[in-house]
Amino acid sequence: MSNTEALFRPKSIAVVGASRHPGKIGYEVLKNLINYGFKGKIYPVNPKADEILGLKTYPKVSSIPDEVDMIVVSVPAKLVPGVVEDAGKKGVKVAVIITSGFKEIGKVELEREVVETARKHGMRVLGPNIFGIVYTPLRINATFGPQEVIPGSVGFITQSGALGIALMGMTIVEKIGVSTIVSIGNKADIDDADLLQFLEKDESTKVVLIYLEGVTDGKKFMKAAESFSLRKPLIVVKAGKTEAGAKAVASHTGSLAGNVAIYSTLFKESGILEAVNVEQAFDWARAFSYLPPYEDGQLVIVTNGGGAGVLATDVLAENGISLSRPPDSLVNSLKPKLPEFASLKNPIDVTGMISNEGYVDAVIEAIRNDGVGAVLALYCETAVTDPVVIADELINAVKELGGLRKPITVAMIGGEKSYKAVAKLNEAGIPTYPMPERAASSMAALINYRKVRERVERRLKELGRTTNA
Ligand code: COA
Repeated sequence: MSNTEALFRPKSIAVVGASRHPGKIGYEVLKNLINYGFKGKIYPVNPKADEILGLKTYPKVSSIPDEVDMIVVSVPAKLVPGVVEDAGKKGVKVAVIITSGFKEIGKVELEREVVETARKHGMRVLGPNIFGIVYTPLRINATFGPQEVIPGSVGFITQSGALGIALMGMTIVEKIGVSTIVSIGNKADIDDADLLQFLEKDESTKVVLIYLEGVTDGKKFMKAAESFSLRKPLIVVKAGKTEAGAKAVASHTGSLAGNVAIYSTLFKESGILEAVNVEQAFDWARAFSYLPPYEDGQLVIVTNGGGAGVLATDVLAENGISLSRPPDSLVNSLKPKLPEFASLKNPIDVTGMISNEGYVDAVIEAIRNDGVGAVLALYCETAVTDPVVIADELINAVKELGGLRKPITVAMIGGEKSYKAVAKLNEAGIPTYPMPERAASSMAALINYRKVRERVERRLKELGRTTNA
């Protein structure tokens, strides 16, 4: 097991600074680790305690009688070098340092001392200034964030701690399943590129989303991103895009936010899908994690509201996706079932007088059609339909089809019932959004990823570089 791998697959974890007091970070980390169900060994370390949360407690890492793969550190900054030295001597592979008070407040030397001490012993460091790490396949929640993270296939790397914890909570409410959440903070040692190298091969991760403020080693990052995006989609939301934002980044994690235009160009070259904001990044991640990849065939919009169709068409066009006439076989099968004034162009407008069954039937017909490669289903809540019934029927129909073999994104636009329908569909693994633009943008990301991957592949070939994809 490499030392970066130990970050995700430790057999034993020691919490250094495990506190006896509920509400303190060291207590909450230990509690999450125990309660989320980590199956490996857990050792609290605290010289002032004999037992915390029912576990025997050790005065230092070196007094633990067994091997320790990972330490999670939550003691004050000035104590961290000593803890790292002691753990390094014991052969600990990786230190997850939650503690703040390093480079981000100008204490560059203290941070360097920690990294150099770790390196001396061949130990890797995550952080400092982070909220920890989650890896759901092994039930690791070594954070002081929410406990009940939903397992799934989104990998989330965040340079911001508090925002990251908040978003961790958001994934639970929004039913976005994650494979991992990594708080990366000051990136004193392990950086985004190291994590991408691991996650590229991690079978539990289908897509990675990074909240990025800045990178220190641009070349390393781009190379890792290139390699990653040949296998799986990589979504980045870059913060600090304005001059004022860049200044805020410098005082937040001590990173250089860099030149916006350069970032965007390099992102494109290395196959990164750049989201404009956090909401969009998670929208796309949801679609990638639930859906099979887009392969071929037409994208068809089915809508009961003309306006929603127009808005979605605009978003697709902005993303270079044009719509063509639906396959004749689809038009011919839908025509007799729809009102005379329905439009059978693309978007297919089944009209506001469609029934629940009529709407679901049209969507399923589109999915089943061989010429259709992807479906964007838009629904506007009307008094003649019930979004919750539509959601249930769509879920059942997809089950009867044996699951989704091509991508579909859905928008359920309206009041309370529509929001319920959005939640139901998402829980059932059908990516659904409350606005047509969001469903369209997620579909566009999915379709464009195929082209992005091909472009990176071509570029690497031209450069004579081999790929390991
Ligand atoms: N080894 C192990 N444990 C030790 C120790 C040592 N050498 N020395 C002290 N401890 C124990 C303390 O006794 C205490 O346990 P107790 O509460 O049972 O007495 C525990 O470790 C924590 O130490 P304490 O001095 O109480 O620190 P703290 O909990 O107030 O603060 C941090 C520690 C790490 C939380 C704080 O320094 C910090 O950095 N906070 C910010 C963290 C953050 O926001 N990170 C970024 C997130 S996005």
